[in-house]
Amino acid sequence: MPARIVVLVSGSGSNLQALLDADQQSYAVVGVISDRPDAHGLVRAEHHGLPTLVVDPGDFPDRHAWDTALAHGIADWSPDWVVCAGFMRILGPVVLDTFPRRIVNTHPALLPAFPGAHGVRDALDYGVRVTGCTVHLVDSGVDTGPILAQVAVGIEPGDDETALHERIKVVERELLVDIVTRLCTDGCTVVGRKVTIP
Ligand code: GRF
Repeated sequence: MPARIVVLVSGSGSNLQALLDADQQSYAVVGVISDRPDAHGLVRAEHHGLPTLVVDPGDFPDRHAWDTALAHGIADWSPDWVVCAGFMRILGPVVLDTFPRRIVNTHPALLPAFPGAHGVRDALDYGVRVTGCTVHLVDSGVDTGPILAQVAVGIEPGDDETALHERIKVVERELLVDIVTRLCTDGCTVVGRKVTIP
């Protein structure tokens, strides 16, 4: 049986599209959730015939209520893994406790450098010569969970945030599909900050 995956998106959803386009033998995307009703990722999901759900923080009285609704929304699809693919919110304790070590995130920088919402811009502003992407397990911090895999991307003369991010996203999509496939096939063991996929 393929592993069941719920994908969380906030924006264009190209990472979601890569997961949908890949040869899904080891996993099946069973639902897509966004915090934003206008996320293009929802359109991609619907084109693929997938059920979608919007859990917009603005519809809830406080963060705990949003966190609880998101946890219930994810759990309704009984996933084995939850994949944050450009989901621009920090997950709360209810979601984290419901799916311990079962949530994966992709980030467009080489963590622990440049965490947060502007990883590409921050790397450019700092003047690093190499940045990249990181796929990691999610914990309660901001992009602080144990690292599963990273790929470096060189910064080229004249790069701006958009050009660099697009080059990062090309390798990021490939890395995310590879790691999700491997997790769904073999699982992983976590000792401290060290993750092993057999
Ligand atoms: C990705 O680079 C992701 O790491 C970052 O936002 C981007 C989302 O891209 N947080 P998309 O929505 O999957 O196209």
